[in-house]
Amino acid sequence: MPKVILTGDRPTGRLHVGHYAGSLKERVKLQNSGIYDKIFIMIADAQALTDNAEQPEKVRQNIIEVALDYLSCGLSPDLSTLLIQSQIPELCELSFYYMNLVTVSRLQRNPTVKSEIQMRNFEASIPVGFFTYPISQAADITAFKATTVPVGEDQLPMIEQTREIVRKFNTIYGDVLVEPDVLLPDNKACLRLPGIDGKAKMSKSLNNCIYLSDTEEEVRKKVMSMFTDPNHLQVSDPGQVEGNPVFIYLDAFCKEEMFAEYLPEYANLEELKAHYTRGGLGDVKVKKFLNKVLQEELAPIRSKRKEWEKDIPAVYEILRKGSMAAREVAAQTLDDVKKAMKINYFDDQALITEQSEKYHS
Ligand code: TRP
Repeated sequence: MPKVILTGDRPTGRLHVGHYAGSLKERVKLQNSGIYDKIFIMIADAQALTDNAEQPEKVRQNIIEVALDYLSCGLSPDLSTLLIQSQIPELCELSFYYMNLVTVSRLQRNPTVKSEIQMRNFEASIPVGFFTYPISQAADITAFKATTVPVGEDQLPMIEQTREIVRKFNTIYGDVLVEPDVLLPDNKACLRLPGIDGKAKMSKSLNNCIYLSDTEEEVRKKVMSMFTDPNHLQVSDPGQVEGNPVFIYLDAFCKEEMFAEYLPEYANLEELKAHYTRGGLGDVKVKKFLNKVLQEELAPIRSKRKEWEKDIPAVYEILRKGSMAAREVAAQTLDDVKKAMKINYFDDQALITEQSEKYHS
């Protein structure tokens, strides 16, 4: 079986370092590993519209932002197919048939959907499209017969839902769909990077993100304003490392060789943490180091973005070509699905013969 990756993001804003640590960095690594036969990266605009029906312009504007973020992180159109979800109408058809395989109560139990409903204060007014987006996401994944879905931890319930749909479909109609595996980053700190305010998640509405496209100065300011251990008031006080965003970011991004370059008094992160825990190490010093670490990671991304920004039509052309290529793959899967469900009437010579015999024997 070919090894196929599918993953994607909703274009509701620029991507931030949470996206980068949780998934984007991993995707680029997987892409460059050469072990996958096909890689599809989807800008999920149709999914973004499920809770932004009244802001289509926001979605429209952010497609290019996400595409620029992808390209500047090193996703390459030569190695990965970059596509826009809404340009693949086959996905809607697949979703429509999958809807019959999922119960309302199963959707109501989805923890990610539950917490999103709370966050958006939807409660009694949940759009049907939003409620069913896990089904449409199953269509995204299965349309490309993806074997591997690299995502952040919050997407686990979506992959589980997809696997259930695949099993049910294959049981009823025969083996057509591929059951995907999820791939999470190895580094635990990357799983869910907190916001710079210490809140559990980076989110545009909380205004606590460091964006991949932030300038050097913006990144520096954000790092220097980061929430740390609130009980670490004086340099001499013992500090807490666990749950401290500055140290979580260091866990996610710092490499040992960076100490020799930027903070030679310490050999590695363990020594730095030990000093902070014992007391006598100020937040400013740690933040200055984190700033260096982040700038080193983000500088090449920023400069690549500048290059791509010079040729926006080329970026749209990459998305157009990718969407066209993706559509062919999805159309083939839809054919397989309809055939398995026996709703391919006009290609089904056996059906036509059977029906005519019924009337002529
Ligand atoms: N739900 C994902 C997010 O919110 C985006 C997405 C849409 C996706 N379709 C997908 C992710 C398919 C992985 C696979 O970021």
